[in-house]
Amino acid sequence: MGKNNFSNDTHYFRKKVDSQNGYALTFDDIICVPGFTNFDPVDIDIQTMIGPFSFKIPIFSAAMDTVTETEMAIQMALLGGLGVIHRNCPYEKQLMMVKKVKRARSFIVREVATVHPKDTDVQVKQKMDQFGVSGLVVLDDDDRVIGIVTARDLPYDQNQKYRVEEIMTKNPICSMDGISREEAQQKLYEIRKEKLPLVNDQNQLVGLITRKDLRPEFPDASKDKEGRLLCGLGISPNLPKNPFDLETFKKIDELCDIFFTDVADVYKSNDLTGIKEIMDITQTPIVLGNIGTFEAAERILTKFDFPEDKLIGLKVGMGSGSICITTIQTGIGAPTLFATAEVADAIQMYNPKIALISDGGFINSGDLTKAFAAGADVTMSGHFFAGCTESPGYIDTIGGRKVKVYRGMGSKEARSTGPYAFDRYANVKKLAEGVSDYVPFVGSVKGVLDQLCEGLKNGLVYGGARTIQEAKQIVIRKITHAGKIESSAHDLLSRK
Ligand code: IMP
Repeated sequence: MGKNNFSNDTHYFRKKVDSQNGYALTFDDIICVPGFTNFDPVDIDIQTMIGPFSFKIPIFSAAMDTVTETEMAIQMALLGGLGVIHRNCPYEKQLMMVKKVKRARSFIVREVATVHPKDTDVQVKQKMDQFGVSGLVVLDDDDRVIGIVTARDLPYDQNQKYRVEEIMTKNPICSMDGISREEAQQKLYEIRKEKLPLVNDQNQLVGLITRKDLRPEFPDASKDKEGRLLCGLGISPNLPKNPFDLETFKKIDELCDIFFTDVADVYKSNDLTGIKEIMDITQTPIVLGNIGTFEAAERILTKFDFPEDKLIGLKVGMGSGSICITTIQTGIGAPTLFATAEVADAIQMYNPKIALISDGGFINSGDLTKAFAAGADVTMSGHFFAGCTESPGYIDTIGGRKVKVYRGMGSKEARSTGPYAFDRYANVKKLAEGVSDYVPFVGSVKGVLDQLCEGLKNGLVYGGARTIQEAKQIVIRKITHAGKIESSAHDLLSRK
């Protein structure tokens, strides 16, 4: 693929998705057309940049309380993307989560699944299913490690009832916190075990090392200059009002790498003025969002004088999230594909250094290719990740299928947690702009990202683009309803 052709045409992306002719198209309305591929598929490189940060995987997990807390943020960063921690909680909890991500070492699990010696084998089985793990650490009433129980310890005979203390391996070998990767490797080899609990000087559990986590370092991890994992955080467009929260917010600012204003529609003068005030007293660069039109991006980039080092990205899409009912409730929306193309043109015109994050509405990996073809630098999803082991919440079973709860931040359920994210929406009254539902449990985020990246990479090969930048030149065409049916499996016994 040759030189950029979007730098010369001020309407390049909007023409691609036909917004010029009055359409607000979404992923299913279009298809990417094959291009000439003059490179080897192994040469595909999907890394991307936001401001000074580079990411091997251009996919982020959304700032939602059923998607991104510590575990998800750590795993996303280890694998090369970014987790954006939600804001539906007090500032102290946000600070605690950001601290954990920044302190995380890849090979130590800090949120360890545990049981009590008096629990039953049935409870053990349930907990293993809930956490998606095959071994639990047994703690006494003072959080001291007294055993380990694994799937192999569970009785075959379902009618036989055991207490954990009867079936666990007693007094497992532990190590003190602070052990290095090499020491842990050696220790696990010496004791020929899978798991090494870490304890403090009172023998209380502080972490766990498993043999599988000691595989070679994560080569793609998203790291800061000091080698710590990158951490994103959803924030309000307004500074905290009470002095205690403000102090906590300043501590967060010292640790966090990128703030993402988490607002359904940030194209409001109050919000934009609020963000200016935040930028005046913080150092963390900000991705501003969400917006949905060329006009909004143009105004933000030309009329507000946001400092160059502070405003590093624009996040787009409104009403397109899978849990979102904003458009149903209000009639207003900007489908992510349309919003991406609109804002991509404004960025090209006014400040090509700004990164463009397409947020929400992705259902298949093919949608990612479409977003990049429409001008995105990064994609963000809640839907892909809410069902992962690393998302907050437990695994439930419905009709024999494992599921996890996924809820919109504007759902009644999310709002009942407290007023933390009320200013995400236009009003703080009763109107729900999101729903709460279940998504299938899909296992580790690694498995999900692998599959998404493979789909994306194959999309780039077919489109003839070697990089995310080149993907912006992939040709887009509108399709009809018939084309949409034809493009997925059809005319089979179970798919009419
Ligand atoms: P999804 O990946 O399609 O489910 O969309 C996730 C995106 O939807 C998030 O990144 C938010 O931008 C947005 N979102 C989250 N909660 C709500 C809500 O309650 N209403 C509307 N949009 C939401």
